[in-house]
Amino acid sequence: MAASLDIRELKALAKRRVPKMFFDYADSGAWTESTYRANEEDFAKIKLRQRVLVDMTNRSLATKMIGQDVAMPVALAPTGLTGMQHADGEMLAAQAAEAFGVPFTLSTMSICSIEDVASVTKKPFWFQLYVMRDRDFVFNLIDRAKAAGCSALVLTLDLQILGQRHKDIRNGLSAPPKFTPKHIWQMATRPAWCLNMLKTKRRTFGNIVGHAKGVTDLSSLSVWTAEQFDPQLSWSDVAWIKERWGGPLILKGILDVEDAKMATATGADAIIVSNHGGRQLDGAHSSIAMLPRIVDAVGDQIEVHLDGGIRSGQDVLKAVALGAKGTYIGRPFLYGLGAGGRAGVTAALSIIAKELDITMALCGKRRLVDVGRDILAAD
Ligand code: GLV
Repeated sequence: MAASLDIRELKALAKRRVPKMFFDYADSGAWTESTYRANEEDFAKIKLRQRVLVDMTNRSLATKMIGQDVAMPVALAPTGLTGMQHADGEMLAAQAAEAFGVPFTLSTMSICSIEDVASVTKKPFWFQLYVMRDRDFVFNLIDRAKAAGCSALVLTLDLQILGQRHKDIRNGLSAPPKFTPKHIWQMATRPAWCLNMLKTKRRTFGNIVGHAKGVTDLSSLSVWTAEQFDPQLSWSDVAWIKERWGGPLILKGILDVEDAKMATATGADAIIVSNHGGRQLDGAHSSIAMLPRIVDAVGDQIEVHLDGGIRSGQDVLKAVALGAKGTYIGRPFLYGLGAGGRAGVTAALSIIAKELDITMALCGKRRLVDVGRDILAAD
């Protein structure tokens, strides 16, 4: 795994180590997956300017995201069921991110709980919130994130209803997995994954089971989740969430200039240009296609981040050049995690940092904070 040279190689390794239903969960997009593909393909269309004979010594990738120091402008994105890619996945990924000096964002739909992650980390992590109809549960989640010392709340806005991912339906995805012959076969062919899973107690949604009214086991949980995501969420809800949280707030799932303006008006600290990794509205633009339009509209008033399609340090650099003050990786770190646990996440981060450093230098820049649209080729 340490020998993997790029994220594609980590992905191939993860595919051999993670049961199909969970690998597919990470790898899937909604319906035809055209937006999922566009997220990656549109990065490839952007060309860099090769510059020569520029002093390339003493380079630095360090910068800030929402005022917090980061070793590079790459945070681990909130991803559901991370603890099913590898046992205790969220705890391992948070530790890898902490050691690397980049933010880790824990999903509401994680397997390890807020408290689990807090117990194995020393620095604050970020918490991603889904708003459920059960407001007492939401208040409680916000309070738990505060008590755990989380240093940012990432409020996801683009999942009031769930996009349809064909692979999950075909695979009969659930957490913990069902024990039909098909599921048993998928797990039996991944013995190392099974062994690690047997050693942990964390096999279902740790933030929810035992915390939400009436959710004491997994059968009631699936019903609860389907019923509980709030389809009536509105801009006015952002105000009470901001007030209850009282700390740095990041709004995730903005893909439209009008929405970016409304999000800016909420007084949030940052917005994340995102289409949920192509998992929600199939047929929407890629994140990188929308980034410059959103930066041009609101970039002087709010920090703009980008999520979706990043598979390399080159992609990070292109997003930064187009005005992103930070980027997020979801699948790349999940592939690392599936391939090799904590060391695999570190490998994913190392691959991206090295690519980012070399690419920045070959574009004639020594400091990431100096990167702008001037590094991009005109056509
Ligand atoms: C949840 O956030 C998902 O995209 O599955």
